[in-house]
Amino acid sequence: MTATHTLLVTGGAGFIGSACVRYFLQHTPWHVVNLDALTYAGNLHSLGAFRDHARHTFVHGNICDPHCVTQVFANFSPSAVIHCAAESHVDRSIDGPAAFVHTNVVGTQRLLEASLIFWRTRSTAEQNNFRFLHVSTDEVYGSAPTGTRFTEQSPYAPNSPYAASKAASDHLVRAYAQTYGLPTIITHCANNYGPYQFPEKLIPLTCLRALNAEALPLYGTGENIRDWIHVEDHCRALHRLLSDGRIGENYLIGTGEEYSNLFTMQTICQTLDQVAPRPDGQPHASAITYVHDRPGHDARYANDPSKIQRELDWRPQHDFRAGLAATVRWYVENQPWCQSVMADYQRERLGSAE
Ligand code: NAD
Ligand code: DAU
Repeated sequence: MTATHTLLVTGGAGFIGSACVRYFLQHTPWHVVNLDALTYAGNLHSLGAFRDHARHTFVHGNICDPHCVTQVFANFSPSAVIHCAAESHVDRSIDGPAAFVHTNVVGTQRLLEASLIFWRTRSTAEQNNFRFLHVSTDEVYGSAPTGTRFTEQSPYAPNSPYAASKAASDHLVRAYAQTYGLPTIITHCANNYGPYQFPEKLIPLTCLRALNAEALPLYGTGENIRDWIHVEDHCRALHRLLSDGRIGENYLIGTGEEYSNLFTMQTICQTLDQVAPRPDGQPHASAITYVHDRPGHDARYANDPSKIQRELDWRPQHDFRAGLAATVRWYVENQPWCQSVMADYQRERLGSAE
């Protein structure tokens, strides 16, 4: 894509979406249109100085609103879409699955339909260059048995309402490609970490609770395995895919590394012991508290990223231990951001799902 191109990012006030907006403004000459409903998880403070960037346009709107999404395509004529907008938290999906079906399934279909109507009005060259990049998750594959890793051929086996809603949205994206020829790509990324993640997910939640001298809830045995990827590495992968990914294909994104939740929490605590020691002199890890497990909790995510490595020469650049330590320091040093995004939040979903 050239300087005149416009990228539509949905959910660009959330964690990964805001990282995408910042990344593409920094690393491309493109105009970035950011469509976000500003739910509890979306906040324009997450864009930092990029909020006022000359090539950034924010549209406060809902992907479930057909009029809104049609207008966005008509007004901005995007050459590509990175679709991040979603309800994204597994525990919330256990408490209330309906919102996940509405946003992740119905909302994705509305966005696909608006994309298709717009795409059909384009010239052949513009149609060929258009991409609808659907940001999905490795959770659609369920839990990886020991000794195996997810590949793009793994069967769908979602275990949470969140994962099921993402799986349904993947199938709709595939159907729009197969039935109507819309040029789509689907990604299945591992757990992201980094700055500006809403403090209900494991890493920022642990940081904030530790700073408040609260118990640190660890679900079940703490032995569940996750593959953690820095959000900037995810954004670079999306950039590579927009440029050179194959239309109609699915790509796993991850590091191939595996860490237990207990290890991740202890590592966070070790950094906090250095940068924000507890007033009582106790190690932060002493606050780790085993709580009842998340229902349907996936034991292990393990991604085989060899397809994107082989085809697009993409590799993660962030080492997990160093990246996690930097991320923990970021949350310690950016308490004003934490307070601003938590201002209207009732703490209804913090920690254990009990
Ligand atoms: P997030 O919850 O931090 O942000 C979601 C954003 O979407 C928010 O800004 C919110 O306001 C917006 N939004 C929600 N409903 C909307 C609607 N109806 N219309 C417009 N905007 C709406 O989520 P995230 O962690 O940044 O995840 C982004 C995407 O990446 C999701 O699709 C998620 O499934 C996927 N994903 C996340 C991870 C992860 O580790 N966080 C990993 C793999 C894939
Ligand atoms: O794998 C990709 C997925 O990663 C994304 O699709 C989701 O949007 C994203 O939220 C994330 O899902 P997880 O459920 O893995 O993330 P979460 O941060 O909620 O939890 C990480 C692990 O830590 C998980 O095994 C549950 C556990 N956990 C979580 C919380 C919030 C705890 O032990 N204690 C907690 O307080």
